Amino acid sequence: MAKKIIVTGGAGFIGSNFILKHITDDSISIVNLDKLTYAGNLRNLESIADHPRYKFVRGDIADRELVRQLLREHKPSAIVHFAAESHVDRSIRGPEDFIKTNVNGTFALLEETRAYWTELSQEDRQAFRFVHISTDEVFGSLGPADSPFSETTQYAPNSPYAASKAASDHVVRAYHHTYGLSVLTTNCSNNYGPFQFPEKLIPLMILNARSGKALPVYGDGKNVRDWLYVEDHCEAIATVLRRGQPGETYNVGGWNEKPNLEIVHTICDLVDEMSSRLQKPRRELVTFVKDRTGHDRRYAMNASKIERELGWKPKETFESGIRKTVHWYLEHENWVQDVTSGSYRQWIETHYSA
Ligand code: NAD
Ligand code: DAU
Repeated sequence: MAKKIIVTGGAGFIGSNFILKHITDDSISIVNLDKLTYAGNLRNLESIADHPRYKFVRGDIADRELVRQLLREHKPSAIVHFAAESHVDRSIRGPEDFIKTNVNGTFALLEETRAYWTELSQEDRQAFRFVHISTDEVFGSLGPADSPFSETTQYAPNSPYAASKAASDHVVRAYHHTYGLSVLTTNCSNNYGPFQFPEKLIPLMILNARSGKALPVYGDGKNVRDWLYVEDHCEAIATVLRRGQPGETYNVGGWNEKPNLEIVHTICDLVDEMSSRLQKPRRELVTFVKDRTGHDRRYAMNASKIERELGWKPKETFESGIRKTVHWYLEHENWVQDVTSGSYRQWIETHYSA
């Protein structure tokens, strides 16, 4: 069946990877609604800007009038909702935008979707899907011996970012339980890969290592994250869209827990190998800095439900994924120049000066 999908936040890291992959499917048309905050970058989608089955609309998910008009005009059979403020450190410095977009924006999108969906024929109503992209951070922090998060782990969000995503997950859930809207939620672990804004650990470390700058590791560097290559996440989302059970949530992860310092060392070695050598090994650029306030110690995902019920599992190993990623950043100088000017420089100066 031909599908028209509205993607929100498609100019960001994961959304643009998702669009680039799925626009290659002839049966899919995509409308990308994105506000283009500092994190949104149309350069990511340059290669498909004039594609006949792709359309970009600049706008805010909280703008109900605009969302209403887009739904009426494009009559989508699915919405894939990525749009969010996504950086934990920014949420600590200024939580307001996180509540505005992640909570109020998601609510506005759901309300307009509900109004649109109610008017559809019974057949179209049944076929309609709203996929909400969420995070493992809603589950809080694990101790070293705790089992990984499952779909039934109690929510315990610790940062304003995590709390705003947890709130949105609850509202999404309620729209299924109360109104019968076919929502599905994915809670995913840390992604890495092309087009990630270099405020996040992996691209920041690649770019600093390349230029011989200090590599700011928070605290003791022993915080653990579960890393997943972005294309695997996008495939998990497409699988949930195609075969997921409405009302269900699916944990997505890489079965790949690693302490931050190990990630940074791996990046240093790869940059040493792929780029011009410095006087000293790049590992020596590591600088331990003040810890993130309320820094969650460990995340780990039990992704067996999506594997068992929908047949998804990650394809990329960390070794191959991180190699491709380092190579991509070193090869895409123009993209890097573009995103590391202006407000990016200001963020780096403010955040790492104390
Ligand atoms: P990102 O910050 O790279 O991109 C977010 C995009 O949303 C940007 O293009 C931005 O312009 C857009 N946006 C922000 N506010 C908007 C608004 N009010 N209206 C319309 N567009 C708006 O984020 P990302 O890393 O691609 O994450 C995408 C989603 O996946 C988020 O919901 C995030 O919580 C979730 N997630 C991310 C990760 C990760 O590791 N990056 C892991 C799990 C889940
Ligand atoms: O777990 C999923 C989440 O992963 C997503 O929901 C978020 O949107 C995404 O930003 C990411 O959150 P993290 O806080 O885990 O990612 P970040 O890249 O900011 O940090 C990863 C780890 O590295 C974390 O323990 C903090 C540490 N860190 C980060 C930066 C930016 C450093 O040690 N130094 C740094 O300069």
